[in-house]
Amino acid sequence: MFSELAIRNLRIIRDLRFALSPGINLVSGANGAGKTSIIEALYLLSVGRSFRHRDPAPLIRDGAEVAELFARFEDDRGVRHALGMRRERQHLVVRLDGRSSVRRSEVLRLLPVQFIGSDPQQVVEGAPEYRRQLLDTGLFHVEQNYLSLMQRYSRALSQRNAALRQGIALVSQWDHTLVETGTVIDAMRRTYVERICARAEAWLSDWGLDLGVSIQYRSGWRAGWSLAESLEAHRDTDRRQGYTGVGPHRADMVINTRAGRGGKILSRGQLKMLVAAVVMAQAEIHRERHGRAPVLLFDDLPAELDRGNREKLLSGLGNVYAQIVVTALDIDDLGAVPEARMFHVEQGELSGPEAG
Ligand SMILES: Nc1ncnc2c1ncn2[C@@H]1O[C@H](COP(=O)(O)OP(=O)(O)OP(=O)(O)O)[C@@H](O)[C@H]1O
Ligand SMILES: [Mg+2]
Repeated sequence: MFSELAIRNLRIIRDLRFALSPGINLVSGANGAGKTSIIEALYLLSVGRSFRHRDPAPLIRDGAEVAELFARFEDDRGVRHALGMRRERQHLVVRLDGRSSVRRSEVLRLLPVQFIGSDPQQVVEGAPEYRRQLLDTGLFHVEQNYLSLMQRYSRALSQRNAALRQGIALVSQWDHTLVETGTVIDAMRRTYVERICARAEAWLSDWGLDLGVSIQYRSGWRAGWSLAESLEAHRDTDRRQGYTGVGPHRADMVINTRAGRGGKILSRGQLKMLVAAVVMAQAEIHRERHGRAPVLLFDDLPAELDRGNREKLLSGLGNVYAQIVVTALDIDDLGAVPEARMFHVEQGELSGPEAG
């Protein structure tokens, strides 16, 4: 969990530093004050890229050449670390405990975060990549060899796709690795989705939201077939198209309600509660494995939620997470949150008791 954060020249923020509470942190401020940018800084430090867009250039404050982030944090075993990031337009340098040769996966393991943004619709109705990424990040933390399986799968997939594009006859030489790794990835994801679904349902029913939600994992190939059979059956199509059209890289996690596809049926507030339940379910599974949930970054929590749901959600979050950073336009929108540390931002600067 984070203990200190310093930001220089990120978006509207020129120079801002503060100590975080190990519990709940509330960040308030008007539109454009820099609330999401603070959440973004924490996310950038852990994940290495923004949740807003891939292009790093807009992160750097207008007129500056480099955005700099620094955090002190504690890992799951209670070991303290120092993490720095220098983001230039073309160049990124990350330093962990004084070392500059740092693998992204190393930082992710030491400092896991989860993010819930202000557009929950996207999780349910957006592109499947988005949901695969949720699954893959969750599994990366709970299954020791998931990352290396995914890396082997992706390498074999790019080699097979290159062979398909070049019209090489022997694409089947990659199939063995794809089947071997893809089948395990599929089984892990399937079990993981079942666990998420059970817990998310439990949260929703705790909250009295009987939405009849079901979450199904779709493998990315024909149901009832093995991956080997599907690759075989699809080979001619793959040759014509120049890429591999079946496999775990085409998987999805489909979120339905009793009445139909979730994103088309549910209200925005209901969708937000549903997405929170899914993310909390992942956090609980993470916590069982590591003893502590990831840090939760929840942007604009009160938006779209009525008072009852806001209260239920906040108390649920308090049961699952240790450290939470929540933003809101107005702190009063959150109601009473005991023992929270509060920050108010105005034009990229802290004001109020926590300033300086
Ligand atoms: N590269 C940049 N240089 C300077 N200012 C920027 C840059 N990128 C974004 N901004 C400005 O930074 C401000 C902070 O945006 P941010 O999204 O953090 O605000 P917010 O407090 O979350 O607002 P909202 O309540 O509308 O979500 C905005 O006013 C935006 O125009
Ligand atoms: Mg915002």
